Amino acid sequence: MATSPDGSLIEPDSKSPVWITGAGGLIGNYLVRSAPKGALGWQVRALTRAQLDLLDFDAVRREFQKDPPKLVIHGAAVTDVSRARANPALTRRLNVEVTRLLAELSAEIPFVFLSTDLVFDGQKGNYTETDPVNPLHLYGETKAAAEQIVLQNPRHLVLRTSINGGISSGGNRGFNEQLRRVWKAGQKTRLFTDEFRCPIFAGETARAVWELATQHRTGLFHAAGAEKLSRWQTG
Ligand SMILES: NC(=O)c1ccc[n+]([C@@H]2O[C@H](COP(=O)([O-])OP(=O)(O)OC[C@H]3O[C@@H](n4cnc5c(N)ncnc54)[C@H](OP(=O)(O)O)[C@@H]3O)[C@@H](O)[C@H]2O)c1
Repeated sequence: MATSPDGSLIEPDSKSPVWITGAGGLIGNYLVRSAPKGALGWQVRALTRAQLDLLDFDAVRREFQKDPPKLVIHGAAVTDVSRARANPALTRRLNVEVTRLLAELSAEIPFVFLSTDLVFDGQKGNYTETDPVNPLHLYGETKAAAEQIVLQNPRHLVLRTSINGGISSGGNRGFNEQLRRVWKAGQKTRLFTDEFRCPIFAGETARAVWELATQHRTGLFHAAGAEKLSRWQTG
């Protein structure tokens, strides 16, 4: 059984409700499927955009009051770098302001925020949690800004992960799915040889989230794959 940092056992009862935002996304899919069951079980509320549009702040507040969670795992975001660049206002609102709202509503409960290695500029490499951030684009900027908001609350947790692969419900969210789609359509793709990430299976990211949440960990953590690969090597 898991223990908290002070050594006490964490025993959510089977009715402990947990909100998972971005449940229709790549990592959200694995978070929902791998939620701890049995004695350490959580009652998962898998929130897709169709169920609750997080941009509707009044609806979010209403739902939170109606069905107060004991844990929130916040994965919903504009996650595509190009889409973020093309939609700056939406990206700031979803990635920063929605995170602020959910973190405020979760002031008294654990809150897990999924962030990215793209808060770094990549110059140094092999980043640790104490390295300063220096995002190069709007997506990274908004995630870094949201991290700061979340980390103001000592009950809350930020997990930075690297590029995730896996199977998503739409078949288009994992890097493996995106490459496969392009190649299957007979198209060619250009892959950088000088951009390095540490690819990770989204199921492993989900496992790390549940492990940290169950142990009531707080603060900032990195979880990425063991291998440093260029985009070309990843392809
Ligand atoms: N995947 C990666 O490689 C990676 C790497 C580092 C960090 N992260 C972080 O991990 C988290 C999850 O990533 P992911 O790859 O699983 O993302 P994803 O597949 O793009 O899923 C994001 C989800 O957010 C939902 N969403 C967007 N706008 C919404 C709204 N207004 N209301 C409610 N839901 C909304 C999307 O719904 P629709 O499906 O309807 O659009 C989508 O299901 C993100 O915060 C991301 O920044 C991901």
